[in-house]
Amino acid sequence: MSKTHNFELVIFGGTGDLVTRKLIPSLYSAHFHGNLPANSRIIALGRKSLTKEEYCQYALDKAKLAKVEIDTRQWEKFAKLLDYQILEAGNLPDFEALKSNINTDINNIFYLSTAPNLFKTICENLAKVGLNHGKSRLVLEKPLGHDLKTAKDINDFVATYFKEDQIFRIDHYLGKESVQNLMAIRFGNTLFEALWRRQWISSIQITIAENLGVGTRGDFYNETGALRDMLQNHLLQLLCIVAMEPPFALDADTVRNEKLKVLQSLKPLHEDSVLNDVVSGQYKSGIDNGEPVRGYVEEDNVPESSTTETFVSLKAEIQNWRWAGVPFYLRTGKRLSHQVAEIVVQFKDIPCKIFPFSANNFANRLIIRLQPEETVQLYFLAKRPGDTNELQPVYLDLDFNKMFTNERRTGGYERLLLDVIRGKLTLFVRRDEQEAAWQWVEPILTTWKKLNITPKLYGAGTWGPAASSALLARDGVSWHEELE
Ligand code: BG6
Repeated sequence: MSKTHNFELVIFGGTGDLVTRKLIPSLYSAHFHGNLPANSRIIALGRKSLTKEEYCQYALDKAKLAKVEIDTRQWEKFAKLLDYQILEAGNLPDFEALKSNINTDINNIFYLSTAPNLFKTICENLAKVGLNHGKSRLVLEKPLGHDLKTAKDINDFVATYFKEDQIFRIDHYLGKESVQNLMAIRFGNTLFEALWRRQWISSIQITIAENLGVGTRGDFYNETGALRDMLQNHLLQLLCIVAMEPPFALDADTVRNEKLKVLQSLKPLHEDSVLNDVVSGQYKSGIDNGEPVRGYVEEDNVPESSTTETFVSLKAEIQNWRWAGVPFYLRTGKRLSHQVAEIVVQFKDIPCKIFPFSANNFANRLIIRLQPEETVQLYFLAKRPGDTNELQPVYLDLDFNKMFTNERRTGGYERLLLDVIRGKLTLFVRRDEQEAAWQWVEPILTTWKKLNITPKLYGAGTWGPAASSALLARDGVSWHEELE
């Protein structure tokens, strides 16, 4: 583990849900495991009138609510690093007070966990008081923009005050152990590389399915939808890691250059391909784990007439020598049957069959499950024991939790926060990557709007609308769970 330098971490939106549920608990965990230097500081900013002591108590209560395990003595030590300041994003004197409260000789990290419409004002005011200096870093939470234009606007004005290598665009999927392991599986082994191409692979599925509904985030979600919330960022980032060429090193630009090439080689979508190859859905009421659950439009803060999609699946193609002709099926949704994130690599069938074989449509399959468990399963055929030549599918099953029983698995936000503190940009999204991703999804947004496409309803607790299965069936393929 590389050295963590002293820092002043300033968090805008310090009383918000993400900060109290994820960021503070991750920082506490980093402290608990000895990864935060003792003389660093974390200054939460918010509009609520709280003293430092009240904020620490507030953060502790919220962490407990989020079921974070707290050791009281360690928390007391951690709380010494915490501070709180009242700040209005538009009030310059508050920024002057902030400046006088922090040591600008060490790394100053400004984490913007606010609504994106405040980013501009915050950056301007930081610059006005000289806090965009050489040791400043800026962390931007998603959603970064609503479409290509708004993303570019945000990037343009942020670039007025901060250089690209000072900007850390968060996609928390990149901080997950399992996602980094995906790179390790591909580029730390010889085994897969030779097969990882159009000659041997017939299709790839990438799924991030959630079991929960929108919960208390109806307001936010209704303006966002599954395409912007998950596909434009998390799913396309996973696609990049699955499909990229081996980078020659792990430094930020080398890795990000390769990811960018994948996004740039995606076959552009247009009206017809959006109509044929993209399915949107919205959950209606249903049964989840035996309990009745509400439909999306019955959720709090969601208008009854909402046409926001809570599910999206699509077929993408990458136009390069490695992948031409191999369909990539991407899918995400809320209130689906299971919570699971996985990548299913379907290999081509053997050229001719000499064994009698009972199971239909079998070909080798590699399933890399990222969560909730982290496993790799490789399906192949083996001879059934006894006086027969018949084959049957079997699989090799690797469970990383069982493999690494003594090592701690760092949470996504903890890893990313430590990387910001160390100034390591590899696991953050560069501007050109982010805009290339927006550019690719843009025709979906415009076609849905122009043709007034509304999502198809699906029952809560299912795998989405029937059209999603039909999308694959047309190509003679099935979603992974339909094969089991
Ligand atoms: C967030 C989305 O980026 O990712 C949420 O805004 C979603 O809607 C979450 O629930 C999923 O993340 P994870 O780590 O729970 O799979």
